[in-house]
Amino acid sequence: MNADAPFADLPIEFVGSFPDPTHQLNPAQPEIGFLGRSNVGKSSLMNALVGRKIAKTSATPGKTQLLNVFRFPQFYFLDLPGYGYARASAANRTGFRRLVEAVIRRREQLAGVVWLLDIRHPPSRDDLTIRQLLGGAEVPAVLALTKADKLSRARQLAARALRSEEIAVAESELVVTSSTAGTGLDQLAARILGLVRN
Ligand code: GTP
Ligand code: MG
Repeated sequence: MNADAPFADLPIEFVGSFPDPTHQLNPAQPEIGFLGRSNVGKSSLMNALVGRKIAKTSATPGKTQLLNVFRFPQFYFLDLPGYGYARASAANRTGFRRLVEAVIRRREQLAGVVWLLDIRHPPSRDDLTIRQLLGGAEVPAVLALTKADKLSRARQLAARALRSEEIAVAESELVVTSSTAGTGLDQLAARILGLVRN
């Protein structure tokens, strides 16, 4: 429990895990999807934002397999399975892709997504596919660079500039984060609330 976390004061309820990516939620509220490669730190970042453990994290990539839904007073968080897990079966990988596409294209309440990229690595082919999907579907996205604690401050800045060029997203749009060090959480929370209110 971390009382300094941006959403620490909000009551949160685990709604459930749903294999159907279009599963309707009741009551209807704006939804924020968390999207990124397997192991990029989606579940950890959600937990850091709320200051407690709601999403399951793991050292084993590909842990999050379903649409896991958390209800906040004014919105939902959707924890989506990571894509691009190298050792996943072909059927599994197609399944992930289909789920992500369905969420982006068919969820009417989707207010936006938090798209995560590891600050240390260039985007994978799957990341670039997601970039295209997001652009094509005109879903507002907040971009979080994760695991910044693994780099010195100087390297963080250099890496942010590189990632910005590679994915063609302005540097000012990228939020440098660390779930372990607490970096960027307030900034990220403010952007999420911006998505919810628009
Ligand atoms: P899947 O659900 O499998 O797609 O993974 P995920 O994207 O939810 O990643 P998860 O949060 O489970 O984290 C994966 C691994 O990265 C775990 O070992 C975490 O402890 C580690 N990790 C996550 N965030 C950070 C961070 O900010 N800093 C560091 N150093 N490690 C992190
Ligand atoms: Mg996860």
